[in-house]
Amino acid sequence: MSLSSRHLLQLEGVPKEDLEQILDTAESFREVLDRPIKKVPPLRGKTVLNLFYEPSTRTRISFELAEKRLSADTISFSKAVSSVKKGETLKDTVRNIEAMKIDMVVVRHGSPGVPYYLTQCLEANIINAGDGTHEHPTQGLLDIFTIRQKHKKVAGLRVLLVGDISHSRVARSNIQGLKTLGASVAVCGPSTLLPYQVERLGVDAYTNIDEAMEGVDVINILRIQLERQKAGLFPSQREYSNLFGITGERLKHLNPNFTIMHPGPMNRGVEITNEVADGPESVILDQVTNGQAVRMAVLYLLSGADKTETETLQSE
Ligand code: CP
Repeated sequence: MSLSSRHLLQLEGVPKEDLEQILDTAESFREVLDRPIKKVPPLRGKTVLNLFYEPSTRTRISFELAEKRLSADTISFSKAVSSVKKGETLKDTVRNIEAMKIDMVVVRHGSPGVPYYLTQCLEANIINAGDGTHEHPTQGLLDIFTIRQKHKKVAGLRVLLVGDISHSRVARSNIQGLKTLGASVAVCGPSTLLPYQVERLGVDAYTNIDEAMEGVDVINILRIQLERQKAGLFPSQREYSNLFGITGERLKHLNPNFTIMHPGPMNRGVEITNEVADGPESVILDQVTNGQAVRMAVLYLLSGADKTETETLQSE
């Protein structure tokens, strides 16, 4: 009943059994979210630090709510009003906060590898909430949970990720998790936004969206990072939208029972039209709700609360 690691840094290399355990545990917590009182006790007495060095709406609020709903004490760090502004290093910052008796750290940072670095200087359990272009493992898990909820399976599905694959931590986590669970994964985007030798990730790569969409069950549409336009990686938003934007017209050729996903934040009218974002096949807000359940499962399993509960039950 416990995971093979005490941290969640990435989905690459996470065994299938761990992924399935997180998803199965999240099913129970998803049911808690439909109760009138959305609170359970397993993290009572634990303190969780939310260490966000980069902006976030969904992930930060989702983790904070997940922690509160598991009865943990939570504290949120904001770089803008911290002593980082006076030049304090990341290591000193986190070691000082840990000295106040922190059990778990949820970290978002612009540099890949920061969550791993924290495992080397802290005793707390570390959960990666997005590190640069590396991974965003709880986003990958909540996307997979939502796919499983809708299609009742993951293995054998064809999932297409569209957009800036090179710079997307969401894409990387989705690819790793989906492949471990037996899905077939394709990616599509301008060649300047596909990683070098992308096929080595075990995916089929396309630069033509209509070809890429043939036979897919799920399309996960990634945010076009508009700052990339300044770097000359695609000519204009209008051209991107014409060549890769997901429109109602393009959806007409899909399998029945297909699913539209987007991790947010969306650029409406660029990578996705309003009609698609708000259409009947969109599960975009389900992803957000499910994110809480998945994060509750990850916090619960990493905290060791499940073992304590089992040991308590065994000693009774
Ligand atoms: N999906 C996602 O990570 O959104 P935020 O940046 O708002 O957390």
